[in-house]
Amino acid sequence: MSEWARRKRALSNGLYTGEANNNMNDQAQRPVALITGASSGIGEAIARKFAKEGWRIVAVARREPRLQQLQQELSELTDLEYLVADVTDKDAPKRAVDLALHAFDRLDCLVNNAGSGKWAPPGETDDDTIDEVLNISLKAPFRFGREALRAMQPGSSIINIGSVFGLLGGLDGGIYCTAKAGMIGMSQAFAVQYGAKGIRSNVVAPGVVKTEMTAAAWDFPGFQRTNQELTPFDRDGTVDDVANTVFFLASKEGSYINGQTIALDGGWSTTKYVAPEALLCERVMPGE
Ligand SMILES: NC(=O)c1ccc[n+]([C@@H]2O[C@H](COP(=O)([O-])OP(=O)(O)OC[C@H]3O[C@@H](n4cnc5c(N)ncnc54)[C@H](OP(=O)(O)O)[C@@H]3O)[C@@H](O)[C@H]2O)c1
Repeated sequence: MSEWARRKRALSNGLYTGEANNNMNDQAQRPVALITGASSGIGEAIARKFAKEGWRIVAVARREPRLQQLQQELSELTDLEYLVADVTDKDAPKRAVDLALHAFDRLDCLVNNAGSGKWAPPGETDDDTIDEVLNISLKAPFRFGREALRAMQPGSSIINIGSVFGLLGGLDGGIYCTAKAGMIGMSQAFAVQYGAKGIRSNVVAPGVVKTEMTAAAWDFPGFQRTNQELTPFDRDGTVDDVANTVFFLASKEGSYINGQTIALDGGWSTTKYVAPEALLCERVMPGE
């Protein structure tokens, strides 16, 4: 019997439990998550959730003071090592995975969260913006995923933070939508290639969540109309909603989910809901 067939049989017989769910009391057995963009917003919330659950963390971002502060705040809960780096640096993935292996000797989950929030209509998107967004939000996640494979054991997983605007075209989304849609293809390519080896890959695709990325647009009527008023739910999504879903996917409870994109949007992307105030408001035609 081939090694692959032996492993597959072990998986089917339930002999295999996944590396990421071992004894939390034994320090060396505590799983390790590498999270990019952990210095604010969704990435920071993910780091806090994993720390609360006993995971050890490697946090990557450019703003050192933020990472330092996070390390201090979580120090009673877990060990957090950080790497100050731009994810688009060619050596950033290797340095991050090396740090995980050097500090903790294992890597159980990669969360590709760092992303660029630049929006513009496709016809008004210059080459620099195309390169910037694709480099941060698509090429870097691919490189981090590729590098993580060298450290990951069966039971590990890659979780990519996409967007509902990778599932649907958003007006003015342009290169942002393009990168996030590409991320779904990337995640599925990893899923098909490495799932049989016990390494899963999935996308969490949030709707709008209030963070530094969206703060400036949050109270803008057009933003509210496009997002909140088309969402059949009684509250906005939060960074903790995203963190909880990411943690579920990384955990034993989510361990048969592979190659999926989970829209975390209160129903925005699967319904044609329109809030009554939006339905009843008077239509203003351009130029009026
Ligand atoms: N907020 C939303 O409504 C929403 C909705 C759907 C998807 N998302 C996605 O969620 C992810 C996180 O966004 P957020 O809303 O939490 O925004 P945020 O608060 O602005 O956080 C972005 C994070 O990415 C890091 N980052 C950005 N460019 C980087 C680079 N070149 N190298 C290293 N780190 C970099 C930033 O850290 P430094 O500045 O310290 O480097 C920061 O930690 C993004 O991928 C975004 O597209 C957000």
